[in-house]
Amino acid sequence: MSSQQYLDISSVLAGGYHHPLLRNYQARGRTLNKDMLMYPIFITDDPDAEVEIPTLPGQKRWGVNRLEAFLKPLVAKGLKSVILFGVPLDLEKDECGTHADSDVTPVVQGLKLLSKLFPKLLLAADVCLCEYTNHGHCGVPSSYTKNGKHVSRTHGNGIYSDANPLVDSSTLPQENSASTAESAHTKASSTSHSSAATFTPAPNFLNGAPHLDPTASANRIAEVALSYAKAGAHIVAPSDMMDGRIKAIKIKLIEEGYANRCGLMSYSAKFASGLYGPFRDAAGSAPMAGDRKCYQLPPFAKGLARRAINRDAMEGADILMVKPSLPYLDIIQDCATLQPDLPTACYQVSGEYAMIYAGARAGVYDLRQMAEETVGSMIRAGASIILTYFTPEFLDWLDSEP
Ligand code: PBG
Ligand code: ZN
Repeated sequence: MSSQQYLDISSVLAGGYHHPLLRNYQARGRTLNKDMLMYPIFITDDPDAEVEIPTLPGQKRWGVNRLEAFLKPLVAKGLKSVILFGVPLDLEKDECGTHADSDVTPVVQGLKLLSKLFPKLLLAADVCLCEYTNHGHCGVPSSYTKNGKHVSRTHGNGIYSDANPLVDSSTLPQENSASTAESAHTKASSTSHSSAATFTPAPNFLNGAPHLDPTASANRIAEVALSYAKAGAHIVAPSDMMDGRIKAIKIKLIEEGYANRCGLMSYSAKFASGLYGPFRDAAGSAPMAGDRKCYQLPPFAKGLARRAINRDAMEGADILMVKPSLPYLDIIQDCATLQPDLPTACYQVSGEYAMIYAGARAGVYDLRQMAEETVGSMIRAGASIILTYFTPEFLDWLDSEP
């Protein structure tokens, strides 16, 4: 039998990819380049720190005094963008995360310094409270004790409103303290209040986490975002997952005259993943009690992810992000197709990085090949911005044949 008889013409594919350059053509131009990389870095409050993070091989916590020496060679190799995470070790933590945006906040200091040192580098700043709060959650609790006083919030002024000040709850009427997420959520839109008499420190999501007030959280997060914009962030990136924070930040930036010099990258579809462990280690941001399942998305929640993506686009996000990446490639694809007019970013998170490292060290596969294959899959799914701890390696790999 001749070959013509058992192969149709359309069955013959190998001619299209037998040469390395022909293989590159198959990506139709959608391959990783240096512009797509955003490097996550940890800045701590000890200005001279350079401390290895055991669960994140090769990554360190940096003090501001070390940033120049650390980043200069990377910028020379073509590093275009970093995203800063604050790691307060000595700064006092409290309920609202006061030190998320004080003058001594390492992120604020880092932004000011990096804008001077590397004026062309795109500076993004992660915005969250968990690194700075004593409860370790990503928002402001509905009620808590401060300086021996019970503090609660009035409700009913509408979300995103500033006219919703923290008040001394001893002046407020009583509320019965049924405290499931459901009932707490309903209360947030009613006019009921907590009272000192019935206050318990953790009216909760059934797991010991405090109930977070969406309005107070969005307002506080917007305040922090504005400080980072003022300190020189070109992009603020809220990772808290509180409802309404994108709109709150956007309005704040507009009101204060920063909306045309600071963009907004939303962690839109951020899942309650098992892959954040090394990061929490690095940033000291693990919750004191409970978990983040009432604000980060449930892993199976494709519908919620799509709604969050569309919502954040409507609320004024300039870039939409999906996180983690590898287990959520379908969500990356959804993000790119639901909102084709916004860039899609994805975060190859600490656990993904650690996993790839661990496998390579165990001899399961080659590190470079697996880093390239995973990031390649994210690009294929639709991402054009990749946050990855492999950025320094990629800057070298992109300059050399595999
Ligand atoms: C904090 C935050 C986390 C990450 C980025 N910002 C951890 C979390 O939400 O628990 C994870 C990043 C990583 O794992 O690399 N809001
Ligand atoms: Zn957080």
